Amino acid sequence: MHSDSSQTPRNPASLAPKAIQKLIPYQSARRIGGEGNVWLNANELEHAIDFGQQSEENRYPDFLPQTLASAYQQYAQTTHPVVAVRGADEAIDLIIRSFCQPQKDSIVISSPTYAMYQFCADAFYIDCIDVPLTEQFSLNTEALAQQAATSKVIFVCNPNNPTGNAHSIESIEQLLKQVDGQALVVVDEAYIEFSESSSAVGLIADYPNLVVIRTLSKAFSLAATRLGFIIASPQVMSIIERLIAPYPIPDCAATIGLAALSDAGIQKMLDATKALLVTKQRFIESIKQLEVIDKIVDSHTNFVLLHSRSPLSLFEFLKQHGVVTRNQDHEPALRDHVRITIGSDTSMQLVETLIAQYNQHYLQQGRVEQ
Ligand SMILES: Cc1ncc(COP(=O)(O)O)c(C=O)c1O
Repeated sequence: MHSDSSQTPRNPASLAPKAIQKLIPYQSARRIGGEGNVWLNANELEHAIDFGQQSEENRYPDFLPQTLASAYQQYAQTTHPVVAVRGADEAIDLIIRSFCQPQKDSIVISSPTYAMYQFCADAFYIDCIDVPLTEQFSLNTEALAQQAATSKVIFVCNPNNPTGNAHSIESIEQLLKQVDGQALVVVDEAYIEFSESSSAVGLIADYPNLVVIRTLSKAFSLAATRLGFIIASPQVMSIIERLIAPYPIPDCAATIGLAALSDAGIQKMLDATKALLVTKQRFIESIKQLEVIDKIVDSHTNFVLLHSRSPLSLFEFLKQHGVVTRNQDHEPALRDHVRITIGSDTSMQLVETLIAQYNQHYLQQGRVEQ
């Protein structure tokens, strides 16, 4: 049931299972803290052993690295609480475990979308309800909102993987209005830096049930460092912080993340993003007239989703020539679609040449068949 808009919004922390609401966070040595010169409270070795590592690693890192969270807060232009996690994938898992009770609760996704939402739900005995995207890959906000009363978390991937298109901020706000605090709305913005569309972060102030997930794996080119972030209202964060692993971020990852989030680091990311978008546009221009390519989805990401009209699989053709892309054939809505990540200019020139050959092959086959 939708509440009256004049009522105070429901506290989203109350959506979490009672057991989680009552959970007392793990009291690690770093969290308890203390004062002194000799630290013998965490069963660490007091002296480092030199294995050739860059810095001494004998002490546990920060419980939740606050400087890194603050740097991300500044980058994301928000004053809402931020926590650093091991990639956006950990964020997805953590949010589901924080708000869903196994064999009782459900999450909602809009296929075709990022597979980890369903995977994490399945692995935790949580039902996953699919409200598919429309034929144009837009959100069906009405149908999503109808699931809110009986679901705990609605995942919106924006821009969406694997389609690459972006949902408008208006459609996300419309969903938040319709859901009206009945479920969390998690907007996964892993690819937001590649898009001109607005982030949902600014909506958290009005919708405390909104959670935004980010990562340094994509535009910041730090996939191996495993750094992701959750941005949420204090109410939602009070629940997530109960379940977050102690010391989730290795010191070396935090150091790299801080460098990336410095002014100079952000500028490097922006320059690299700009260059990637030029490469992407040139790639699209070079293949869009080819007869064999009948659809290129409007891309707001560092990949492009293509549909081929040839009976010969484009995925297989590229694979035979040593180029590994992502086949989307397993998705009922994406038969004969291939997702191609935008690589270097050299890699994309190779792919352009191969797709031109693939087109030739298609035209010759067509002539033979006529
Ligand atoms: C939409 C989306 N969310 C999250 C992730 C996971 O990112 P991370 O490397 O930060 O775990 C990916 C990775 O491909 C993704 O496509």
